[in-house]
Amino acid sequence: MKKIVLAYSGGLDTSVAVAWLQERHDVEVVTLTVDVGGGSLRPGAASRAISAGATRAYVADARGEFVEGFVWPALQAGAIYQGAYPLATALARPLIAQLLVDVAHREGADAVAHGCTGKGNDQVRFDVAVKALDRRLEVVAPMRVGMGMTRDQEIEYAHARGIEIPVTHASPYSVDVNLWGRSVETGVLEDPWQTPPPDAYAWTVAPSEAPEAAEVTIGFEAGIPVSIDGTPLDPVTLVEQLNALAGSHGVGRIDHVEDRLVGIKSREVYEAPAAVVLHGAHRALEGLTQSKDQLRFGTVVAGEVAQATYDGLWFTRLQRDLRDFVRTAQRNVTGEVRMRLDHGTAAIAGRRSPNSLYDRALATYDEGDAFDHASAVGFISIFGLPLRTEAARSSFAGTEPVLDTLPVEVVDATVEPVAVGT
Ligand code: ARG
Repeated sequence: MKKIVLAYSGGLDTSVAVAWLQERHDVEVVTLTVDVGGGSLRPGAASRAISAGATRAYVADARGEFVEGFVWPALQAGAIYQGAYPLATALARPLIAQLLVDVAHREGADAVAHGCTGKGNDQVRFDVAVKALDRRLEVVAPMRVGMGMTRDQEIEYAHARGIEIPVTHASPYSVDVNLWGRSVETGVLEDPWQTPPPDAYAWTVAPSEAPEAAEVTIGFEAGIPVSIDGTPLDPVTLVEQLNALAGSHGVGRIDHVEDRLVGIKSREVYEAPAAVVLHGAHRALEGLTQSKDQLRFGTVVAGEVAQATYDGLWFTRLQRDLRDFVRTAQRNVTGEVRMRLDHGTAAIAGRRSPNSLYDRALATYDEGDAFDHASAVGFISIFGLPLRTEAARSSFAGTEPVLDTLPVEVVDATVEPVAVGT
């Protein structure tokens, strides 16, 4: 191993890792810091990397690529892990892995490194994605192979070597952020019965402290959000604005005990205001524009995409093919959805689409009903045919009537009511 590219967040762990890798493996270290939005880029990251001994520090603004290449496909698919987690952290990992591989190629490096521990999902996502893109690259995770230091030991290690360290106070949580959400774990959150303390949240107000309810209209084209309240916005701005707006209404707090890939259950708190609003709006627009069979099959695809994304399998052939399918299947998911942000909830207030399958003349119970009521009789006769056939073979005679088991009051036309039964 001669040259290694380290995924460098600019935090204490990875700053120490720069020096540790050099001392331990006698390699040249190049760092890569990826801005995936949401405040993930810490100021001064590049100079800190150099102070820690990196020979070169790359800082990539990948916010646009993150939203268009990862977040939007997941949104179009409706991918939410275990019905709760919109996958913010999980979606950024394959992109960072891809950039690590790109830098390794540009630099002629023979290995990449990341600061993940041996207990989480992120190590799996990095390792698997890097190998999918270039199986010859070695992957080193210092935290897994001996760099286990306490926070104080790391600070001491950094001071002894003149490494600049970030001036943040010790957070009681482990936090990961990007444009699609904020993931918070450890500390008091490890007790699943414990209410998350207010300091676990940074992007959302407490729902009870939210201002008057407000409405926001999201415009979609082929399943991709393109505007807010009629104003076309680029993807990054759209998600940023929605995070700020929905977060100010207390929307987007998620408290989840989730199943990690490594087999443990873990209590996680997420803040994902834009993701919650956009998934809700997108689902509502699909309901208007997709057939019932597309919707049913869509939930199968959503489950597959969510699990694979969570498990770090973004670059498999199946996932690439599923994303192609989803993109095509979303062609009619165009229109607008009005969402009402009300003290922590984002409710559908209305939806419309030029591709709507909703036909008022068929749906109405008022004047102008175009539905053919009389043909319902023939339809039901055929539809119910298998049940009648089955009933003819063995009737349900012998089953105790439910009526006998209930307290029933019978009112007779000529006498006072009497209680019958128990
Ligand atoms: N449990 C989430 C996931 O696996 C979030 C992990 C976030 N990482 C962190 N250091 N807080 O995607």
